[in-house]
Amino acid sequence: MDKKNKIIIANWKMELGFKESLALALEMKNMFSGFSKGGVVICPDFISLSEVGKELTGSIIKLGAQDVFWEEKGAYTGEVSSSELEEVGCEYVIIGHSERRGYLKEDYSLINKELKNLLKESKLIPILCIGEKKESRESGKVEEVLSEQLRQALEGVSIKDDSQIIVAYEPLWAIGSGLVIKPEDMNEVNKIIVQSLSNIFNNKIAENNFLRIYGGSVNSGNVKDFAQIEGLDGLLVGGASLNSDEFYKMADKILI
Ligand code: 13P
Repeated sequence: MDKKNKIIIANWKMELGFKESLALALEMKNMFSGFSKGGVVICPDFISLSEVGKELTGSIIKLGAQDVFWEEKGAYTGEVSSSELEEVGCEYVIIGHSERRGYLKEDYSLINKELKNLLKESKLIPILCIGEKKESRESGKVEEVLSEQLRQALEGVSIKDDSQIIVAYEPLWAIGSGLVIKPEDMNEVNKIIVQSLSNIFNNKIAENNFLRIYGGSVNSGNVKDFAQIEGLDGLLVGGASLNSDEFYKMADKILI
C-alpha cells in the first residue's frame, strides 16, 4: 500500500451469487485494464474469493475479503483464517464491519483479536471499520464513540515499520441510506482519527502506518465532494460498487 496513492474498495457484501460475482469481476477487470491510478480493491463473499482471485490474475484490481477469524487453524466452525485468504490471493480484509457488529454482535474486543492476529500472522492489510450511530451524532458524542472504538480495536497492537492499516469511517446512519457526511464533518472526523491514533501510538505511526477512508452512500454523483477532502485517502463503497460503470466513474474521480 502506497501512502501517496488513494484507494477505492468495493464491498459486495452478500449482494451477489457466485456466478454474478465472477461476471462482475470479469467486467471490472476488462473495464480497469489500462487504468493506472491509485489502488482498486474488490471484496466478494468467501465462496467467490478463490475463483474471482484467479480471474483477477494480471489485473490491477486487488482482492479483499469481508471478514477473517483470529486463529489460523482449529475447531472453529464456519470461520476462515488469514492464511487461507492469502492462499487464494487476498491482499486486504475488512474487519468489524458495522453489519457484523449489528447482526452478529461483533464487538471491538473480538475485532482487536482479529487485528492482532492479522498483523502477526499475515501480510493482509486490515480495513478496520468504525462509525457512530445517528443518536451519537445527534447528541454530540462522535468523538467519544470513535476514539473509544479505536482504543479498543488497537489496544496492545504492535505496529511494525511496514505495518499498514486502513481505518474505514462508516457512520451507521449513512450506510445504504442515501445520506452522506458533509465535507466539514468529515474533516472533523479525520482530526478525531488522527488525534486518537497519535494518543494510542504516536504522531509518526498515525501518519505513516494508517490510511483513512470513508464509506456510506457514496456514488458517482456525490464522489467529487469526497475527492476534495484533504487527508481522506479513499472510499469503501457498498451499493454503488455493484455496477461496473458506476464503480469505474467513482474510481476515476477519487483516485489520483
Ligand atoms: P453503501 O455504499 O451501500 O452505503 O455501503 C457502505 C458500506 O457499508 C461499505 O462497506
